Amino acid sequence: MKNLKKLLALALAVLFVFSMAACGKSDSLTVEEGKLIMATNASFPPYEYKEGKDIVGIDAEIAGLIADKLGLELEIADIEFGSIIPGVQKGKYDIGMAGMTVTDERKEMVSFSDSYAKGVQVVIVTEDSGITSIDDLEGKKIGVQEATTGDIYASDTPENGGFGEENVTKYANGNLAVEGLKAGKVDCVIIDNEPAKAYVKANEGLKILDTSYTDEDYAIAFNKDNTELQTKVNDALKELIADGSVQKIIDKYISAE
Ligand code: ARG
Repeated sequence: MKNLKKLLALALAVLFVFSMAACGKSDSLTVEEGKLIMATNASFPPYEYKEGKDIVGIDAEIAGLIADKLGLELEIADIEFGSIIPGVQKGKYDIGMAGMTVTDERKEMVSFSDSYAKGVQVVIVTEDSGITSIDDLEGKKIGVQEATTGDIYASDTPENGGFGEENVTKYANGNLAVEGLKAGKVDCVIIDNEPAKAYVKANEGLKILDTSYTDEDYAIAFNKDNTELQTKVNDALKELIADGSVQKIIDKYISAE
């Protein structure tokens, strides 16, 4: 009797797995069958940036390997950072991958993969600037990339460690924020450390303050309803972390100092 029950349970389990597989086939795992559409904002080196017409960088390469593992063709959509989460929520894109920081507010809107990289918010100033630490930022004009964590922290009230919305200028991307700094429209830019390094390297007369702002985890965002894709992508990511592929890509773009 006991064995019979076990057998029945097993049979049901097998049936369940098969029916799930059948479901996956009929209504596609991804927005467009056979494709993995990644939404990003490609002015964020070394995670994603344009090289001619191509979008390259750490995220683009990791996503490429994930797509390979899932037998999908990677397609990258370059959109505003603030449109990535809404687009994933609406089912326009399969994943959001953009050096995106995991936050509690975002967790309400999308689900996240394991973290594959770390970020730190830093402050870029001009070399001749009088600003030497975060404390000097009070009353200064602060540039950020709209809808990023840098924007969220800086725009918060002083009681919450921010500088107040009225002191923050929001740019459509990091490059434009840096242009604003060079043109004297803002006194500093708060942005993630690796892009900051890339911007400082590419533009003369800028430097990064020694004191950093916050530590963050980057992860891939999914539509909350697509747990199947989330699991598959996350399993692929786990394998790529475990076998060193992710580190290899990071090392290719970020030289140890
Ligand atoms: N890590 C920051 C955030 O999640 C900034 C990300 C900006 N990424 C980009 N591809 N422009 O808000």
